[in-house]
Amino acid sequence: MKIRKAIVPIAGKGTRFLPATKEIAKEIIPIINVPMIHYIVEEAVNAGIEQIVFVTAAGKFSVEDYFDRNLELEHFLERNKKSKELELVRRIGTMVEVTSVRQKEQLGLGHAVLCAKDVIGDEPFAILLGDDIVRNPKPAIQQLIEVSEARSGAAVIGVMEVSASETDKYGIVKGDIIDEKTLKMTGMVEKPRPQDAPTNLATPGRYILPPEIFSILRTIPKGAGNEYQLTDAINILCQQRDVFAYRFEGERFDTGNVLGYLEATVDFALKDPEIRDKFLATIKTRLQKNGLSL
Ligand code: G1P
Repeated sequence: MKIRKAIVPIAGKGTRFLPATKEIAKEIIPIINVPMIHYIVEEAVNAGIEQIVFVTAAGKFSVEDYFDRNLELEHFLERNKKSKELELVRRIGTMVEVTSVRQKEQLGLGHAVLCAKDVIGDEPFAILLGDDIVRNPKPAIQQLIEVSEARSGAAVIGVMEVSASETDKYGIVKGDIIDEKTLKMTGMVEKPRPQDAPTNLATPGRYILPPEIFSILRTIPKGAGNEYQLTDAINILCQQRDVFAYRFEGERFDTGNVLGYLEATVDFALKDPEIRDKFLATIKTRLQKNGLSL
């Protein structure tokens, strides 16, 4: 069955980006001039996803507005013959069908995913977490979709290697090696201490899951951090169905924290041919002015 829908949870308060997030949704904070959420939605759209299901909370209307048409702005740009800008604005407003469901209490990622159950219905779906931006010619989520299709629609969880000191920031998978990129999963554990981690393969927010996950999510108790964890539901799913972990290709940025966000900003600027040279010159000047060298 084709993967047509993707859940993108955006209900988090973005406390690491306070005070900006006192007033604006974290997802709208731009990397250069493009909101972070744009990269996530674009990854899904480029992978053939037709509908994005945002799991939202109060104060997130700007994300929904961003992917909607803005006719007043379009008319303004048209009148002022700004055809390039007009095309850009129109493209964003029509790039994908967006649906929102509300998570009324922040009870964890498992709970957020369960909130989207009725919109997803009885079909397999993708999840993309907004704090992880992955850049690759072939979108990371498309790589997972292809693995799922090649394995009769099995669940596939995207993984990457992390250092031992970082296992307590992620869901960590375990299983049997199938090939250099694929693991047949036997389980998963949320944010284990390094000494308890079964592997160093972490899940940076890309999942293909079957609708059966919803009935599991309904039954799990609260887990790590006293929250309903998607990890715990996937752990149970591994006992019921084939679940694979796949080491996808792509450069991943953890834009959920300020340093990762800065890293993404610098990298995106260096990869932008229109900005690169002037940006490099600016960095050089700034290093000098601050008495620093590399
Ligand atoms: C969540 C998930 C975790 C996953 C991580 C990826 O944790 O619970 O399994 O590895 O996202 O960013 P959070 O970062 O929301 O605490």
